[in-house]
Amino acid sequence: MRQSEDKRGNAAVSSDPDARAEALLDQMTLDEQIGLLSGHMPSVLKPRPEGIQRSAGWVPGLRRLGIPDLFETDASLGVSAAGRRDDQATALPSGLALASSWSPELAEEAGAMIAGEARAKGFNCLLAGGVNLTREPRNGRNFEYLGEDPLLAGVLCGASIRGIQARHIVSTIKHFALNSQETGRMVMSAHLDEAAFRESDLLAFQIAIEAGQPGSVMCAYNRVDGTYASENAWLLTDVLRGDWGYKGWVMSDWGAVHSAAPAANAGLDQQSGREFDVQPFFVGPLKDAVVAGEVPTARIREMAHRYLRSMLACGVFEHPVSNGTPDLAAGAAVTRRAAEAGVVLLKNDGLLPLEGVRRIAVIGGKADIGVMSGGGSSQVVPQGSTRFDPPPGAPRWTAGVIYQPDPPLEAIRARAANVQVAFDDGADPARAAKLAAESDVAIVFAVEWATEAVDTTLVLPDGQDALIAAVAAANRRTVVALETGNPVFMPWLGDVGAVVEAWYPGSEGGKAIAAVLFGDVNPAGRLPITFPASTEALAHKALPGGDLPIVNDRGDTPPFDVDYVEGADVGYRWYARTGARPLFPFGFGLSYTTFRYANLAMDGLAASFDVTNAGARTGIEVAQLYLTGAPGRDGQRLLGWARVALEPGETRRVTVDANPRLLADWSLEARAFVIAGGEYRVAVGPDAATRVLEGATTLLGGRVD
Ligand code: BGC
Repeated sequence: MRQSEDKRGNAAVSSDPDARAEALLDQMTLDEQIGLLSGHMPSVLKPRPEGIQRSAGWVPGLRRLGIPDLFETDASLGVSAAGRRDDQATALPSGLALASSWSPELAEEAGAMIAGEARAKGFNCLLAGGVNLTREPRNGRNFEYLGEDPLLAGVLCGASIRGIQARHIVSTIKHFALNSQETGRMVMSAHLDEAAFRESDLLAFQIAIEAGQPGSVMCAYNRVDGTYASENAWLLTDVLRGDWGYKGWVMSDWGAVHSAAPAANAGLDQQSGREFDVQPFFVGPLKDAVVAGEVPTARIREMAHRYLRSMLACGVFEHPVSNGTPDLAAGAAVTRRAAEAGVVLLKNDGLLPLEGVRRIAVIGGKADIGVMSGGGSSQVVPQGSTRFDPPPGAPRWTAGVIYQPDPPLEAIRARAANVQVAFDDGADPARAAKLAAESDVAIVFAVEWATEAVDTTLVLPDGQDALIAAVAAANRRTVVALETGNPVFMPWLGDVGAVVEAWYPGSEGGKAIAAVLFGDVNPAGRLPITFPASTEALAHKALPGGDLPIVNDRGDTPPFDVDYVEGADVGYRWYARTGARPLFPFGFGLSYTTFRYANLAMDGLAASFDVTNAGARTGIEVAQLYLTGAPGRDGQRLLGWARVALEPGETRRVTVDANPRLLADWSLEARAFVIAGGEYRVAVGPDAATRVLEGATTLLGGRVD
């Protein structure tokens, strides 16, 4: 009796996805199994089959056995438009904004929201779950990801995948691994020593996979140690399947496949958007490789098994999707909450919240039109968006620079009844400065567009630094509201009264920014990435490959290597190691109230302490627990955090459990995380650079599973 059969040989009664997948495979020919191992990209299909809408991906099913088609859509920040006109979708704030909330609950809610809209739009697989760490602050895709820390990014990513899959939609996690920059992404080779890799980028994936159980892992474009991620047996088989016991399937990124047998044997299970690769490798060439004995039929069966078992485990068979209308009102409520939670107040000389002002100058950033969003495959285009031509050098396939439809100017006007609100587009700094001088307060919106496929700089483009300087010189009561996909330098920081980082705030972004400016929302966002003071402090002072020529119309440079010399010390850990001072540290964010910490007590892995709201407004503190010293080594690591809402005057005793893997080091001998016995020093505080309470705990050594 096969595993998939009960006593009567009835496979359908089993709820075990592996048993059900086996029962289906028993009834399939080799060709049918291979038929599940590649997909199309409907947006480029000519002609596009009837009933198949424009989207990133489509894997035809097998009607004979009731295997559904897989309809894939990009979904990092909402259901992406993929060239569909008149699309109806809610745009979430960027990944960095979501990460600034430090709230797994919000991440889960956001995931569930996207899945709900996807379901109503006929998609059952979301190309979501971007968890590449911010090794490179100039990475053009940082806005899609969740920052520089493996614990924060992993926990939030896992939560959002949970939210998606609870709605019976498969989620991916991507891009596996070390796709840390866009420059040369198709050709570069990333090098990182194994222990450091396990303690950083891989740890983010591991935590997220455990927490979210994504149905699929999407491999990266780049090479890792010289081998394409799509053919990297160490990554796809030894680590993912062997060490982590991952049961789902590995799909390729679009255009990331370079072979049939080497990729299949290394652990790639499915070729996505096969029109994007030079050959439909996982169609004819894969069959030929099987016939030639280069790929065992058992491996084909395993590949198809992994695919089917994930669809079954997510309930895709039982919960078919159909076209309907997304609940945009529900989406708006979720994205508004996420945007408000993601705004980070970086500076405040008492200027905010705005009170008692009579004349406000709103300047720049197309604040009269909408809010900035990031470009590339994740682009969501809600109705009412405005498109501008992209700057030179942007990939031709982007939708352009999209301003999503929630103009901050309108939101400020709505909030500030009886206040005179004037707008200047900022094109002429002298004119803007004159308006600022005539106003009680000036709010300058400064924007930076980032997109997939190219990297950015850390300098605000288009003369916006000069605009801010001119406005601030005319009126020190200047608030800078940033809508950026990356950290930026702030040469004018000492001259302005307040700075808020709103990231790309999504389709309710204008209202969210206004709510923070006027104090309807007490800001609680905390930076998930370090803001550098200069490129000198970075592990890579210049962008790797940034000086190489572009050699084809796909934007490729000649191949090059990147040595991640910082190892696992990404972001704030690098600053801790080098002693350099950032512009703003990881974890940083101000509130309209103040918090006090007291009475740290360590009990094994648990840190307990009091947090008090010492100000006059209700607020949320993100209390962070860091490792500051371990037996035989220094260095800093986030061990855990608590997001605590407190009324004025309220004190709460908070317990944060340190994540044992963050206390451990990866042991090459034990092939496991191992905690060395001895004393571990910790600090508690509001950001990575501020140690308010310090303590220590003594741990027995041992493996961490
Ligand atoms: C991106 C992926 C995306 C895919 C499909 C690629 O360019 O790297 O993140 O899911 O396209 O649109």
